[in-house]
Amino acid sequence: MNVIEVEELSVRYGVATALDGVSLHVAAGEMVALVGSNGAGKSTLLNTLSGIVQSARGRVEVHGQLAHVPEGRQLFPDLSVDDNLRLGAFRVRERDPSWVYRLLPELERTRRQRAGSLSGGQQQMVAIGRGLMSQPDVLAIDEMSLGLAPIIVRDLSRILLELNTERGLAVLLVEQSARLALDLCRRAYVLEAGRIVASGTTGELAQSPFVKSAYLGGPGEPSS
Ligand SMILES: Nc1ncnc2c1ncn2[C@@H]1O[C@H](COP(=O)(O)OP(=O)(O)O)[C@@H](O)[C@H]1O
Ligand SMILES: [Mg+2]
Repeated sequence: MNVIEVEELSVRYGVATALDGVSLHVAAGEMVALVGSNGAGKSTLLNTLSGIVQSARGRVEVHGQLAHVPEGRQLFPDLSVDDNLRLGAFRVRERDPSWVYRLLPELERTRRQRAGSLSGGQQQMVAIGRGLMSQPDVLAIDEMSLGLAPIIVRDLSRILLELNTERGLAVLLVEQSARLALDLCRRAYVLEAGRIVASGTTGELAQSPFVKSAYLGGPGEPSS
């Protein structure tokens, strides 16, 4: 069963085309990356999945509950960590965040602090925790690593992997950092100017001369 199914999706902002015939899927329990540089259309895709942006054409289906962890975290900086978490549960009966603190124990001691006073990595953790509060089947996380130190990114990556392997949570990881996305996920799509230009297992993609030269800073196709 697929938790996310997108077929031939096109999205426009006025006359500008942001997505042009994009097809992708995420199976239940799968961890998939969507890689692309700034302006490729990655956030537009997530915003279409969560209904913030309207499609011009194509089919978008989400089976089950989607938690969208938006680019830039979008916390309420003047509310406590606790209250930010509770806001993630507005659709579900269970509003008590204790179980999320058990999954993200580092947040527990910050629960009464203003979210805006936390470090970038802690804020990203709150944003993930808020997403979990909706008891999702799939977590779509937009630019998890942006602006964070490598050691923090490692912690957050471990958390995502645990959620995936231990709770069967499907993940759509949207990243400018191709290296991270290919390391973390089993499968990936590469988006360029609104189109999927490559897809496959991350093992295959990491070996592809095109992906190497364009996204991994490595040597690409030999020039003749
Ligand atoms: N609200 C908007 N209005 C007009 N153009 C937008 C809007 N949001 C994004 N765009 C444009 O759509 C394209 C894709 O943007 P975006 O989805 O944010 O890409 P990414 O997340 O990959 O950086 C870019 O050219 C961007 O300038
Ligand atoms: Mg974006």
